[in-house]
Amino acid sequence: MTSERETPSDESRHEDSLTNSCSSWQAPEQLRTDGGSTADDVDDTVLDPWGSSTINDYRKLFEEFGIEQFESILDEVSNPHYLMRRGVIFGHRDYRPVAEAMQNNEPFAALSGFMPTGDPHIGHKLVFDELIWHQQQGGDVYALIADLEAHAARGMTWGEIDQHAKDYILSLLALGFDPEQGTLYRQSENRGVQDLAFELGIEANFSELESIYGFDGETDVSHMQSVVTQMADICYPQAVDQPKPTVIPVGPDQDPHVRLARDLAARTRYFGVSEAYASFAVTDEERSILATAFAHREEYAEDPDRPRCVEAATWIEEQSSNLSSVERTVVQKLENAGKEPLRPRVRILNRNATDDAFESLIEAIDGEKRVYDEHIDTFDLDQSQAASLARDVELEHGGYGFLPPASIYHRFMTGLTGGKMSSSVPASHISLLDDPERGAKKVQAAATGGRETADKQRELGGKADECPVYELYAYLLADDNDEFATEVYEECVNGKRLCGSCKEQAADLMESFLSDHQQKRDEWKDRLDEIDINLESSRQ
Ligand code: TRP
Ligand code: SF4
Repeated sequence: MTSERETPSDESRHEDSLTNSCSSWQAPEQLRTDGGSTADDVDDTVLDPWGSSTINDYRKLFEEFGIEQFESILDEVSNPHYLMRRGVIFGHRDYRPVAEAMQNNEPFAALSGFMPTGDPHIGHKLVFDELIWHQQQGGDVYALIADLEAHAARGMTWGEIDQHAKDYILSLLALGFDPEQGTLYRQSENRGVQDLAFELGIEANFSELESIYGFDGETDVSHMQSVVTQMADICYPQAVDQPKPTVIPVGPDQDPHVRLARDLAARTRYFGVSEAYASFAVTDEERSILATAFAHREEYAEDPDRPRCVEAATWIEEQSSNLSSVERTVVQKLENAGKEPLRPRVRILNRNATDDAFESLIEAIDGEKRVYDEHIDTFDLDQSQAASLARDVELEHGGYGFLPPASIYHRFMTGLTGGKMSSSVPASHISLLDDPERGAKKVQAAATGGRETADKQRELGGKADECPVYELYAYLLADDNDEFATEVYEECVNGKRLCGSCKEQAADLMESFLSDHQQKRDEWKDRLDEIDINLESSRQ
């Protein structure tokens, strides 16, 4: 591979600049898990993979970070998971190709990773369920233990890591992951991932990690290595197999990783494909001005079948007495091109290709083409034909041909005690290993969205939108049963449901969930030799 640093491909830059306003974001009202929270007195949202992210305002993630609303793509998912239907999965990047692959029975993958720093809890269950669901939809699914990250970024010993790793795996299996169809691995034992991390690390530099993660001169090198390892995890399904739409289900705190992975994946690409109108190079903004000028060719060209660059330059100048600086640049470029015809074409740029690959691509292009030093203009291919040809050539010549990885984001659960759900505060969460009775007790002790008195509750209704117990129903206890989730919600807000009996019911459901789950874990304990993952680290 060559190692020229490149800016992100047009593909990924374009997608990441798409920000959505979320004014229209509404999950089916009764099912919404936050009542469309509208806190505006909150701190600036920062997404920090190693910090203690609490997200106070999910809207900011759309506006500031360019995460798209899951709602807007829900209709394109054939058989959406209840976490999607209920708005628990609230956002995504570029999930459409995954949804399309699912619909068309084409290959797709899903991957997520777990840092073995403690017991798996009901928050992790969301991600386990997302992976399992993608597997049931026919995806090629990967679950990994981020042991290198836990060791480097969290200082866990290998002994602790082994214990927790096993617990994560057992819960994942107990919830329905099929190890025959899917892949389990740990970072430390996966040579392919480590090699890929090394290659991707060539495309990233320190300043970038500094600005994305706030790393500084004190950050240890292994922590940085755990970042490139995660980049490799994210690209791994496409590297071991063919390039295919791949989704990474995670919490929004992992979004910085996803964005960097999308950039790095793009930077390894041999070729970039874009539209152009003349021989000179243009930016995205300049291109859209050219597109407009081309569309109006009838108005100014002596021969509209052959509009000239200078003619277009004059037309643009006539449109306004006060050209923007981009418009002026375009006019300049068009004037320099003089009589050259303005003519749409698909341009394939050489970004990282080997000489051989560039030569092969030239040969592979059918129809009219023009070859330049660093690009080829094609006149008879559309953009998607050109992109797939370029990808084929890249793959034949040893490149990865990565598609930009996609992501979906789930809401964080509120802690049972009201604040943040935190692994270090046992009463705030329910561990999948909690004794079922203990789990039930935690539910009974949980904070609620109830009123001060039963009378008031009957009169005003409960605040299900602010109730951690309602969240338990919506995220877990109601399982696939939307009617039941809706019933709990309606009864609560209509004052028919009182917190005592509501928690009682939730506690019972939790108790049976935990005992069932733990029984399945026990069954898997005897079958661990069937799975292909080393549960005892070779490191000590
Ligand atoms: N960094 C993730 C965490 O903190 C774990 C992780 C490692 C991961 N590799 C990954 C998550 C790849 C998603 C995809 O939990
Ligand atoms: Fe929460 Fe149930 Fe009370 Fe409503 S009735 S506030 S859902 S505990």
